[in-house]
Amino acid sequence: MIRPVTAAPSSIPQNSDKLTVLPFSDLHLPKPQAQTILANRDYLNRADYVVFLGDMVRAYATLREYGDVRAFVGQLERPFTAVAGNHEFFFTSIDDDSPLYGEIWEQANDDEERMKLRRFLEFWRLESLWRAFDSPLGRFVFLSLDAVGHWKQEVLSDPQLAFLEKQLGTDKPLFIWCHAPLVIEARLDLVYYDEERSASIEPTGTLKSALLRREAPTFWMSGHIHLHPSHYLFPPYRAGGNVWQIHCPDSRSYGRLLREHRVPQFYEGVFSRHLEIDASGVSFVTHSHAERRDLESYRVDF
Ligand SMILES: [Fe+2]
Repeated sequence: MIRPVTAAPSSIPQNSDKLTVLPFSDLHLPKPQAQTILANRDYLNRADYVVFLGDMVRAYATLREYGDVRAFVGQLERPFTAVAGNHEFFFTSIDDDSPLYGEIWEQANDDEERMKLRRFLEFWRLESLWRAFDSPLGRFVFLSLDAVGHWKQEVLSDPQLAFLEKQLGTDKPLFIWCHAPLVIEARLDLVYYDEERSASIEPTGTLKSALLRREAPTFWMSGHIHLHPSHYLFPPYRAGGNVWQIHCPDSRSYGRLLREHRVPQFYEGVFSRHLEIDASGVSFVTHSHAERRDLESYRVDF
């Protein structure tokens, strides 16, 4: 039996002047870096809302791994929501005590994938894998990787894609949160383990054209590819039209620093990137938890 988080997730706060949203992607708990993050209390208290952006579990979404996630969330004491990454459902479990734990990465069968997505919902006390909230500062859409039985990990199911398309109708800024990055016009300019993998959500058809048609800005926040803030894809960029791709750093001190890094490298420090949203624009602020200070900030005006 899974033990759910003690505090339930909540909708986005209704601040109308300024909203600070802090995502955590690729926590892969337990990790010593989690203590560095949790000890950075003044920084955490600046966040009006926390988004668990997927791959919170160490490897296979086992009950033991969820116990570690539960302990982290319990100490965070901020309003939050969560979306599923690939590690929340895609891989078949290896026993936590096996020497092969963390070494084998095989796709689970459909039943196991479905079971893990149900486990995700139960743990996080969520009704659905996807949801949207309106706030005075824009619309916030949360998406989970959920394509059971698909060979590719970075896929959204058809009902979820239909839901996403409906959310694009707003003329306000749109903040989309999804574990995997977005590709509209060109593939990510890096190799993700091997040449074949796009590592991205790749919309087609009416969804793609609706994204490109939007006049108000769309921001797509993601993790998954483990980028260190020094990586050349880290600054916000347009994926197409007025759609911005915002890569969030991994929270595991294991990332790609250079374009030629096909595989993440262990590095010193642990970073976050939070959003400071107001009526006229949004700042994407990189923060070093080890140094307890903000690093660079990128501003996009609406
Ligand atoms: Fe991932």
